[in-house]
Amino acid sequence: MLKVAVIGCGSISCMHLDPAVALEEAELVAVCDIKPDRAERAAQKYNAKPYMDYMEMFEKEQLDVVHICLPHYLHTKVACDAFKKGINVICEKPMSIKYEDAVAAVELAEKCGVKYGVIFQCRYNTPSMLVKQRIEDGKLGKVKCGRTTLTWYRSDNYYDHSDWKGRWEKEGGGVIIDQAIHSIDLANWMIDDTPVDIQASLHNRNHEIMVVEDTGEGLIKYENGALLSFYAMNNYFVDEPIEIRLVCENGKAIFSYDRAEISYNNGTFESVNNMPQKMVSYTGGKDYWGTQHAVQIRQFYRSVLGLEELEITGREALKIQKIICEIYDKGWKGK
Ligand SMILES: NC(=O)c1ccc[n+]([C@@H]2O[C@H](COP(=O)([O-])OP(=O)(O)OC[C@H]3O[C@@H](n4cnc5c(N)ncnc54)[C@H](O)[C@@H]3O)[C@@H](O)[C@H]2O)c1
Repeated sequence: MLKVAVIGCGSISCMHLDPAVALEEAELVAVCDIKPDRAERAAQKYNAKPYMDYMEMFEKEQLDVVHICLPHYLHTKVACDAFKKGINVICEKPMSIKYEDAVAAVELAEKCGVKYGVIFQCRYNTPSMLVKQRIEDGKLGKVKCGRTTLTWYRSDNYYDHSDWKGRWEKEGGGVIIDQAIHSIDLANWMIDDTPVDIQASLHNRNHEIMVVEDTGEGLIKYENGALLSFYAMNNYFVDEPIEIRLVCENGKAIFSYDRAEISYNNGTFESVNNMPQKMVSYTGGKDYWGTQHAVQIRQFYRSVLGLEELEITGREALKIQKIICEIYDKGWKGK
């Protein structure tokens, strides 16, 4: 069994702690948070040893894997500290705030011979997997054009309650790097080609207490001619389902986290609803996070044990990281 620890015992941590305890490949030995009450609470709930300093935890525990559930600006720093100790890392999205930091982390993981995984759990939703399969098996064929929309709600309170969200230096942006990263990643994964031009426009239209964007839109042009438009905003007062529409060679796909509908040019139709994984029951979390963290975490553990190939490696995650960073670069310069 792998000896595992979780760093960061905030909102998302249950999506890592519950699988770390439930999955047979791992044993949760330690948790870490700079806020002592959070470290203690998680330690008691999950029967693990609490730490306030992750370097001390690296020294005292013989860890095989750490889960990073920290504010964005700490992701690559903590990942690199773990790599240097020979510890495999599964990190929450996004990999980093700056693209260069993510590239350096991937190179260091490869040099140290450890695994580096980045969470994009929505790829493991049943609708996403069906659409990807139909693109790859040729039934849908290549994507020619697509669009993603996300209209959610994050109140001023949401930002006020966090000591890192809504700040450039700690979160790295707003709705694009935090929420829309998943839907843009899904569309980019389906298109599976190299972006050659990104245009973007970012605004803060309705959030007084934060300075980052609450609205972003743009167009990504790919080497093979495919076009992807994206629109994201968190001023909508409710969270509507995200929507991704793809026009492919042999039909159209419309999907969200919950459902996919595919209509083929030959008049046939296929649809699927999301089927939540049943391996792990979570003791917290939000509906829109889905349930697939456990699937990706299990694959990560099995890849460390040499039993399975890791799909979303650091190198794979660099693709969406590069796009996100360029959206900020172009969006704020108003290009
Ligand atoms: N995959 C998803 O759908 C999804 C959903 C929500 C959040 N996330 C990601 O999870 C990560 C964490 O988000 P969150 O909402 O749980 O944040 P959070 O603020 O609730 O939790 C972060 C925790 O890290 C702790 N921390 C800060 N600095 C530390 C340090 N140096 N050492 C140890 N602990 C430290 C904080 O005290 C806090 O408890 C972010 O990357 C976020 O984008 C992903």
